[in-house]
Amino acid sequence: MLSLDILTLFPAWFDWLGDERHIKNALDGELALGIHDMRTYSDLPHHAVDDTPYGGGAGMVVRVDTTVAAVEGVYGQPLDDVRKQRRIIALDARGRRFDDAYSRELAGAGAITLLCGRYEGFDQRVLDHVATETLSLGPYVLAGGEVAAMVVVDAVTRHLPGALGHDESAEEESFAPALDGLPEYPHYTRPLEFRGWEVPEILRSGDHGRIAAWRREQSERGSAS
Ligand SMILES: C[S@@+](CC[C@H](N)C(=O)[O-])C[C@H]1O[C@@H](n2cnc3c(N)ncnc32)[C@H](O)[C@@H]1O
Repeated sequence: MLSLDILTLFPAWFDWLGDERHIKNALDGELALGIHDMRTYSDLPHHAVDDTPYGGGAGMVVRVDTTVAAVEGVYGQPLDDVRKQRRIIALDARGRRFDDAYSRELAGAGAITLLCGRYEGFDQRVLDHVATETLSLGPYVLAGGEVAAMVVVDAVTRHLPGALGHDESAEEESFAPALDGLPEYPHYTRPLEFRGWEVPEILRSGDHGRIAAWRREQSERGSAS
């Protein structure tokens, strides 16, 4: 069972998420997904959650007090207790790079919370004292953590039992241990020939040994292009 909560300033962004097939499957089984509006827990005027940066500069910074209020409000427990029970992951461009191994690790984590930043990002004290870790999708800057959170939910959920249909498996896919971390081999389906573009003969041979060897070779070449 995975309890996965998302704390965001834009909860409506996630309205569609539970309709996606594998996430819907997981919600019927191993996944409990919560989307929480951080503003709900702010006592500041107009439920503000951000403020101007000390030292000057452009943009607003997500405050540490309003972030803690949101975490403690969602779980009804002091921050220290929440930190003992779940991984609190702040989405941040400078964080640990998200990859297949990280997604498998989170699928088995039991309970995780994703904190979505906005504007200039979080007050550093959120990263130092509230989050248990930081996660980055890659070396580029997104407008907010929401899209990153959706990527994490999508990839992590694929590893939960029952999320994928019988005809799909997350085992033999790009970067999985079953492929020794290599990219997946190419797939083909009907028609056999289209505009002169043919399906490789070997895939029509029925020789499973040769097909497996060809697929391995393709993976090693990393021939996604
Ligand atoms: C506009 S960004 C802040 C960028 C920050 N000032 C910087 O230069 O790194 C606002 C929020 O988007 C999210 N974000 C941006 N890029 C990200 C990435 N590559 N991976 C994960 N989250 C990201 C984070 O939650 C961040 O706090």
